[in-house]
Amino acid sequence: MTTAYNPSVICPILIGRTAELAAFHLLIDQVKSGRGQVALLCGEAGVGKSRLVVETKTYAASQGFLLLQGNCFQADRAFPYAPFLDLLRSCFSSSSPLTRHNDLTSFAQEFSRFLPDVAPLLPEHTPLVVPSSLDPEQEQRRLFALLLHFFTRAATHQPLLFIVEDLHWSDESSLELLLFLARGCRHLPILFVLTYRSDEVSPELRHSLAEFDREHLAQDFSLQRLARADVDAMLQAIFAMHQAVHTGLLESIYQLTEGNPFFIEEVLKSLIATGEITSREGVWERTLLFGTHKRHSSIPRSVQDAVYQRTKQLSARARQVLTLAAVAGRRFDFTILQQVMHADASHMLALMKELVEAQFVVEEAADQFAFRHALTRQAVYSELLAGERRAWHRTIAETIEQSSSLSSVLDDQLVDLAYHFYEAGVWSKAAEYGQRAGERALILYAPRAAIEHLTRALGALSHLDGTPPATVLRARGQAYETIGEFEQARADYEHALSIAQQTQDSIMEWQSLLDMGFLWAGRDYAQAGQWFRRSLDLAQALADPKLHARSLNRVGNWLVNTGRAADSLHAHQEALALFELLHDTQGMAETFDLLGMANGIYGDRVNAV
Ligand SMILES: Nc1ncnc2c1ncn2[C@@H]1O[C@H](COP(=O)(O)OP(=O)(O)O)[C@@H](O)[C@H]1O
Ligand SMILES: [Mg+2]
Repeated sequence: MTTAYNPSVICPILIGRTAELAAFHLLIDQVKSGRGQVALLCGEAGVGKSRLVVETKTYAASQGFLLLQGNCFQADRAFPYAPFLDLLRSCFSSSSPLTRHNDLTSFAQEFSRFLPDVAPLLPEHTPLVVPSSLDPEQEQRRLFALLLHFFTRAATHQPLLFIVEDLHWSDESSLELLLFLARGCRHLPILFVLTYRSDEVSPELRHSLAEFDREHLAQDFSLQRLARADVDAMLQAIFAMHQAVHTGLLESIYQLTEGNPFFIEEVLKSLIATGEITSREGVWERTLLFGTHKRHSSIPRSVQDAVYQRTKQLSARARQVLTLAAVAGRRFDFTILQQVMHADASHMLALMKELVEAQFVVEEAADQFAFRHALTRQAVYSELLAGERRAWHRTIAETIEQSSSLSSVLDDQLVDLAYHFYEAGVWSKAAEYGQRAGERALILYAPRAAIEHLTRALGALSHLDGTPPATVLRARGQAYETIGEFEQARADYEHALSIAQQTQDSIMEWQSLLDMGFLWAGRDYAQAGQWFRRSLDLAQALADPKLHARSLNRVGNWLVNTGRAADSLHAHQEALALFELLHDTQGMAETFDLLGMANGIYGDRVNAV
């Protein structure tokens, strides 16, 4: 292990940002007096958003604020509520002051109903609750209301600084939830600080930002790169020098990094490590020219190069761990890596320590590490050949799979498994986990995440022989329907229908006919009626009384809405009789509802009541 990284290349003081910091202090003071605020902080990767957040946290803490933080990571785009899980984790950790308030701990149980991943965080390790069968939209509304209530209560004890970092990687449900909370907290002592990369705004984030704008909910802050004088100040602070840095050095660092603080630190680390800059009589200067390495990537060559040079300083084993970690993700699990490396815990810890000391990674929790910066991960990842990446993705996926086979697979593991098996080209597994992750996202009312998973699942299936299962297409059709993508939903439902017919899966065929009916109901009611009738014909041909009754109810409801109340009553009564024979109380209840509606419209008040 080398110790050539000294001096520490993290800038010890905050450079510039005086105006932004003053603005944040003002916001904190306003929030303290009960006026909720939202600050949206944007800028390119590495420009210093998180650093400013850290400074803001320090001031807020000195003003008696409780700090809550959730971070988004790249893999989270398709993981419903990821930053909130992150945030709730800190709320329910034993050191959190929130756990001292009895009125708040009772919420924990409720959360676990909606977010099963929260359950293991609870003090008593309550067993997982099966997700309820309520309509997902209702579930979502309840969850939102519950969280608003929770934070409202928390804010009665202490003002809150509520941070969510890197929203460009957020899933859509979290964005909606943030918007909802921001609306509901205007008169509470809560300051939301939300950061994102201005050059990586996803369509979902763009939509949320427009909403914040439209409702005048937030103040925008945009961080720019440091000016030449600031870069000078930064170099001086890093080298703890009193005289100015040699102009040639300042100039070349400034040119290479264009004032992006992360690039500055990375390039400096590399230059010191390779001896390309040295201290001569107390003045640091550049002695050699940069070496160049040809590599494809969207990251600046300077950073790619800087990271590459630094990895060369690591021990071989530590470099291997770093590479593996880059394949595993921005945030990675110690135990999984340890298993893949076949290393014992103490050896592995020593290797992680080497990586932490070399400032590649940070420790996030007992078993969790993360790259200090996404750019570093990207740089390491792009050093790998395609074949190497595939092989490592496969090893990681199989290791996660083995480690989770004992207990049930958690949501975030599903997402990881789908991702790694896909990148590994193990199509059957990628399809299986992609489908499960997609279905889970549907339950959590995250249709865009669901579409992403299911599309990848279908992509994986297309590499395999045979027709894709109709269930996957149906699920994606539902997700498209939820976000109002009529044509896409129709294409999926029709595809599901034709597969069901091909494979003689009559139940799925019947289900697809109903799906088409419901889909058309929002566009062309006459078409909807035809699909419902087709489902009725099929149910009759199958002589299945339950399907028959359900189709009768659909047709009945269609009839009442098209002004044929008498025919409608007839259909519902026939359905009721079938459900009664089956002792199907849920079916009966539904039919009574529909009958009530039909009777009401028919003018038969007595029957309706
Ligand atoms: N104004 C600043 N003064 C000193 N160091 C900074 C400043 N801004 C950023 N840095 C350093 O640059 C690196 C990248 O900054 P970071 O806040 O992580 O960027 P971002 O969150 O915008 O991607 C960090 O190591 C940080 O400490
Ligand atoms: Mg950041």
